[in-house]
Amino acid sequence: MTALILAGGQGTRMKSPLPKVLHPVAGRPMIVRAIEGCLQAGVKNIRVVVGHGQNLVKTVLEPYAIKAYVQEQQLGTADAVKAADLESLDGHILIMNGDHPLITTADIKSFFAEFTAKNLDLAVFTVELEQPGEFGRIVRKDNKLSSIVEAKEASAEILKTKEINTGIYIAKAEVLQKLIPLVKNENSKKEFYLTDIITLAAEFKYNVDAILSQNSDIAHGVNNQIELANASQKVYMQNAEKLMNNGVIFIDPKTCYIDDTVVIGSGAIVYPGVFIRGKTAIGGFTVLEPNCFIVDSIIADGVQIKAGSYIEKTVIESQASVGPYARLRPDTTIGKAAHVGNFVEMKKVKFGAKSKAGHLTYLGDAEIGEDVNIGCGTITCNYAADKNKYKTIIGDRVFVGSDTQLVAPVTVGNDAIIASGTTVTKDVPEGSLALARTPQVNKEGYAKKFKKTESGH
Ligand code: UD1
Ligand code: MG
Repeated sequence: MTALILAGGQGTRMKSPLPKVLHPVAGRPMIVRAIEGCLQAGVKNIRVVVGHGQNLVKTVLEPYAIKAYVQEQQLGTADAVKAADLESLDGHILIMNGDHPLITTADIKSFFAEFTAKNLDLAVFTVELEQPGEFGRIVRKDNKLSSIVEAKEASAEILKTKEINTGIYIAKAEVLQKLIPLVKNENSKKEFYLTDIITLAAEFKYNVDAILSQNSDIAHGVNNQIELANASQKVYMQNAEKLMNNGVIFIDPKTCYIDDTVVIGSGAIVYPGVFIRGKTAIGGFTVLEPNCFIVDSIIADGVQIKAGSYIEKTVIESQASVGPYARLRPDTTIGKAAHVGNFVEMKKVKFGAKSKAGHLTYLGDAEIGEDVNIGCGTITCNYAADKNKYKTIIGDRVFVGSDTQLVAPVTVGNDAIIASGTTVTKDVPEGSLALARTPQVNKEGYAKKFKKTESGH
């Protein structure tokens, strides 16, 4: 089977500079949802019809090696199908509108199964809606599909019809090759409506039918920002429900935004306001406190992520605790039972097991051993005047006193101690104390004298 995804329209009602099909639904562009739905259903041949914003849309297609077919002018959905090099198609063709992001692999599979079981030449996927709104209406005569009438063209009687066109069709290639050239644009919009092939198919005595689905989600078309947000909320809620069915505990699931690519182990607790995106895996019994943002990260079992933490491309091993208000940037690994406290930022850091950085610290381009104590206000000075980044390496069981700067490249050996307030500019040998402070001088009585001169007495 070949899938034809129609994505050439402008999406005027979105009122956004982004082409409509690139708008994300729960983290993934609508067009990506359509493509992945097809791929998972085993449809390997995919053609996408592009038009408005085609250069941007093509960038999304490239990683999938999907060919884009350019529809020069948006003359309607039948014209879009024509643009996909209709003559070169064979076998079964699945046609989908690019703006129905809630269609799943299961929907595609069941549609195709019914199409083959009924030995059809052409079928349209339909649902019944209490408020059919702007959708094309399904008209049946003697219970047989006879036409699809666009809402704009429909009589008051036809408008009452609750069964609507979802914009998903399956047809034999030769049926499309025969009927598409016959579609005319004699309607209020002067467009070539794909829906007209239904009437034509009936005229040519093809075996044509409407297949009614019970899943009304497939009718969720996105034509404006409100429908987009509703679609995202639906997916986020479905994702939370899936996780709850696997034993994840949510305090208030409707406030949590978890992509469908995320896995979470049972017994984990998700507090309100948590965002989890991309390729993220979270272990069981892990606690995610309010307002954490986690992207493309792997977090093991029994980890505690405290409120307000921002975690990107980071690996956190079991029993570790992070935050509140920690920022872990890409390529960071936090070892087992390590502790990263409030207002700590790390980037490209390997932070050893049981090590602690409790407060107000920046570690970048660093390797920190096990059981290390990083005192409050420690800074790795990794960015040098030559605009290069240099590494700081700290061995096991090192004690770094508060307010230390480590000027990279620098290495601190195992079991060393760095005195508070030290600026480390040279390597520190194993087991030694590094101390670099100006000795303190106390001048007795000086303060009193100084204050007097200040106030002019
Ligand atoms: C279409 C159907 C309607 C159905 C509804 C389901 C037609 C005439 N009407 O209406 O019966 O109920 O979808 O959502 O088909 N496109 C192109 N090139 C064009 C025009 C459209 O590629 O020249 C693409 C759009 O990008 C979109 C899809 O085709 O992805 C559907 O177009 P849209 O304008 O949204 O059609 P609807 O008015 O929603
Ligand atoms: Mg539409």
